[in-house]
Amino acid sequence: MKPYFISTAIDYTNAIPHIGHTYEKILADVLARYQRLRGREVFFLTGVDQHGQKVQQAAEKQGISPQAFTDALSEEFITLWKKLGISYDVWASTTHPCHKRVVQKILTNLLEKGWLYKASYQGYYSVRQEQFLTDKERSEDGTFGPEWGEVVFLEEENWYFRLSKCRSWLISFLETHPHFVTPSFRQVELKNAAAKINGDLCISRPKSRLSWGIELPFDPEFVVYVWFDALINYISFAGYLNDESKTNFSSLWPCNDHVIGKDILIPAHGIYWPCMLHAIGFLDEQMPHLLVHGFWTLNGEKISKSTGNVFDVHQAIERFGLAALRYYLMRDAVMGRDADFSEERLLNRYHAELSNGIGNLLNRSLGMISRYRPEGLCRVSLTQECSSLLEGHLNLVHRYYKEMDGSQIHDGLETMVEIVTRTNVFIDTKAPWKIAKESDQENRLSAILITLLESLRIAATLLLPVAPDAGAKIFSQLGFDPLVLSDEIVIPEFPEKYYAGKATPIFPRLLEEK
Ligand code: ME8
Ligand code: MG
Repeated sequence: MKPYFISTAIDYTNAIPHIGHTYEKILADVLARYQRLRGREVFFLTGVDQHGQKVQQAAEKQGISPQAFTDALSEEFITLWKKLGISYDVWASTTHPCHKRVVQKILTNLLEKGWLYKASYQGYYSVRQEQFLTDKERSEDGTFGPEWGEVVFLEEENWYFRLSKCRSWLISFLETHPHFVTPSFRQVELKNAAAKINGDLCISRPKSRLSWGIELPFDPEFVVYVWFDALINYISFAGYLNDESKTNFSSLWPCNDHVIGKDILIPAHGIYWPCMLHAIGFLDEQMPHLLVHGFWTLNGEKISKSTGNVFDVHQAIERFGLAALRYYLMRDAVMGRDADFSEERLLNRYHAELSNGIGNLLNRSLGMISRYRPEGLCRVSLTQECSSLLEGHLNLVHRYYKEMDGSQIHDGLETMVEIVTRTNVFIDTKAPWKIAKESDQENRLSAILITLLESLRIAATLLLPVAPDAGAKIFSQLGFDPLVLSDEIVIPEFPEKYYAGKATPIFPRLLEEK
C-alpha cells in the first residue's frame, strides 16, 4: 500500500517559532500518528524555508551571513519540534544541496519546454520593502503610503513562468476535483481566485537586490523567487529527480495532505503549486491534497512580534505540560476555523476531559480492582451488560475513524470523551461497591472490573495520537498494549489473572495563574 504522505508548510526562519507554527506541526503529527496506529506506513515531511529577503535582511541587521542566521533559527525549530514530540521522518531545509539541484533541474526542464521567458518590467518600487508596488498598494488618493518609504520608478529584467497559460487548466481541474482543498469553502475561494489569474509569475530576483537564493542555472545574475524554491521541497525531499535518495518518489507521491495555514492557500499552494506541477508534467490524478487550517490569535488579537503579542511555546510546555498543550490545541480548534488561545479554556478542557475524565477513570478502576481483587482479577466471560457497553464503545471507535480520516480531530477526541463518560455512568449505575457486598455476584463483579479495563484500553488508544507520552503512561499503569486500530476491531484476550498496578496521577491538576 502507498505510504501516507503528510507534509506541513516549511517555516520561514526569519523569527523564532510561534503558536501558529506549533499548532500546524502538532496537527500534522497527530494525523501521522493516527495513520501509523491504523497500520499504515507514513512519510511525514516538515522543515524550514531558508531563502529570501526576510532572512537576508534579518541576517544583515545582525551582521552575520544569511546561512549562519538561518542555521541558528532552524535549530530553534528542530529543538521545539523535538520537545513537542513531532514525529517527522524527513527534514526539509531549502539550503540543502540536493534540494538546490532539484530546483535547478526543474527550472532547466521548464525552460526547455518553453514555460519560462525573460522580460523587462517597469514599475514603482519600494526601496524600504524591496518590492514592486501595484495599484493594490496605492492609498485612496492614488499615492503610496508612508509605510513604503522612498518609492522610485524602476525598470528591471526578470524571468517569468507562464502562469496565464495554466489558467483554463486550473479552472477545469478545480471543477472536476472538488476535494482538492479541505475545507470545501476554501476551494470555493480558490475557484474565484483562479478565475482572476491575469498575467505570468515573476520567478527570479536580480542578485543586485537579493542574493540569498538558488541561482538560476541558465542565468547566474538571478536567484529564484523564494516561493518557487520553497514549494518544490514537497517533491525534492520525497526523492523526486534524485537517484541518491533513500525514498522512492513514485511510491510516495501524491502527498495525501499538505497541511498549511489559510494565508498561504492563495496564491502560493492553490495557484502556483498545482500550475507548477502541471507544467512540470504531473497528471491531474497526481495533484496533492491541501488541508487548510485556520489561524490562532492570542487574547483575540493577531500574533505579532512588533506589537509584542506573542507567547513563548517553551514556557507553555513548562507551565501546562505537553499533554495539556497538545490536547487543547487539537480539541479546541475546529479544523479550518480560526481559534483564540485562552489559558482558561485550556485549563477547563484539561481538567474536565483529562484529569477528571480519563485520568480519574484510570484511578478509580485500578483502585477498585486492588480493593476488591487483592489476590488478582481472574478472567471470566462478560455478561450482557458488559458486552453491550463495549459494543457501544466500538461503535464510537468507528466514528473516531471517520472523524480522523476527515481530519476532524476535535470531533475525533469527542468520541474518546464519550467513551470515558459512558464508562463513568456505567460505574455509577452498576455501583461495584454494592455488588462487592453480595457473595453470589463474584463473577458479575469480575466482569464489570474487566470491562472497566477494556474501556480504558479503548479510550487510551484513541488518545495516543494526541498525547503519545501520557497515553504510554496509561498503558504502562494498565499493563496492557494499545488496541490495534484495524477495520474489524478485536479486543485481545484478557489475561488469566490480572494484578492492578499502582495508579499515579497522569494528569495532575494545574493551578490557575493569577
Ligand atoms: O508561510 N495560526 O512560512 P511561515 C496558525 N515559508 N497558523 C499560522 C499562524 C497562526 N497565527 N501564523 C502562521 C510560510 N501560520 C512559508 C511557507 S511552504 C512551501 C512555505 C502557519 O513561517 C502558516 O499558515 O510564515 C504556514 O502554514 C506556517 O505557519 C508557516 O508560516
Ligand atoms: Mg507567513
